[in-house]
Amino acid sequence: MSLIFDVHPTSDPMPARRREEILANPGFGQHFTDHMAVATWTAADGWHDSAVVPYGPIRLDPAAAVLHYAQEIFEGLKAYRHDDGSIWLFRPDQNAARMQRSARRLALPELPAEDFLSSITTLVGTDADWVPSGGETSLYLRPFMFASEPFLGVRPAQRVSYVLIASPAGAYFAQGVKPVNIWITESYSRAGRGGTGAAKCGGNYASSLLAQSEAAEQGCEQVLFPDSAEGKWVEELGGMNVYLVTNAGELVTPELTGSILEGVTRDSILKLATDEGLTPVERKVSVEELLRGIADGAIREVFACGTAAVVTPIGAFKDIDGEYPVGDGAVGEVTQKVRRELLDIQYGRAEDRYGWMTKIA
Ligand code: COI
Repeated sequence: MSLIFDVHPTSDPMPARRREEILANPGFGQHFTDHMAVATWTAADGWHDSAVVPYGPIRLDPAAAVLHYAQEIFEGLKAYRHDDGSIWLFRPDQNAARMQRSARRLALPELPAEDFLSSITTLVGTDADWVPSGGETSLYLRPFMFASEPFLGVRPAQRVSYVLIASPAGAYFAQGVKPVNIWITESYSRAGRGGTGAAKCGGNYASSLLAQSEAAEQGCEQVLFPDSAEGKWVEELGGMNVYLVTNAGELVTPELTGSILEGVTRDSILKLATDEGLTPVERKVSVEELLRGIADGAIREVFACGTAAVVTPIGAFKDIDGEYPVGDGAVGEVTQKVRRELLDIQYGRAEDRYGWMTKIA
């Protein structure tokens, strides 16, 4: 039976004037709406106790398995306000399906796609005033699931919590759409063969943080992880996929090997490429090919992509041997076109020719 998310409204909502101040300049991941959706799973009863409740701290037993063994997964998607005031989601079925794949990998229970969607439509409907309008703002949605059973034995938890929170968002990178610099780490790997690289689990991000700090020390905003087996192949960045634009008119992204996150934005760009007169290519790309290509002009542009990052141009790569600027360091033409096309679909300014958008309010 499907879950019903009954709404228990907060008695203490954010005053409208303060909310408007936040929406005028939301940043990324700093502010949260008045409510959150919750549900519980137990091995005995399956999914139950679903509701939309006031946003606030979660009571957690200190022995909760997630705090010890990191049995946790999450998703990221956005609600967009169109010019007519309506609110839309972009390919939420893809996030629901990926959350189920992540759940399987982390030995967590799968949340049915209809319950995933129902948690979102109920929360966004309740907190609709929090969906910003104008510019490239949106309401970032963060569904997550974790082992809440108090038990120190190492086995899949018998009690699991699902929570959905929402956060008004502007650009992910503080500098907006300016090109970012990428540090190529030789010290760390993000994921190994048979590991959790394709799952959206907190552990992948935790293990990227030291490399991310190394990148920041080098004046870079993100880190590029080569594969762990050979240290040779481009996989992905700390929290986003990567694309190269070649002078042969190809849009190339590293093929999915089981250790790369199956990004929804990555997949959408593969589909949009042909509309833009480009040839989409998924294949292995070596770090050596990348650096040689940007040096000799075979690779004209490079960009990062993800729900939070949208399409973010890459201005230069750096490693222990030096710095490798991409093109003239400005935002490339193809990067701009792909970015614009994606955003136009998401904000309802271009025809939704792939049926990607779902109206929820
Ligand atoms: C997203 O793009 O939604 C992510 O989860 C990545 C994270 C860097 C914010």
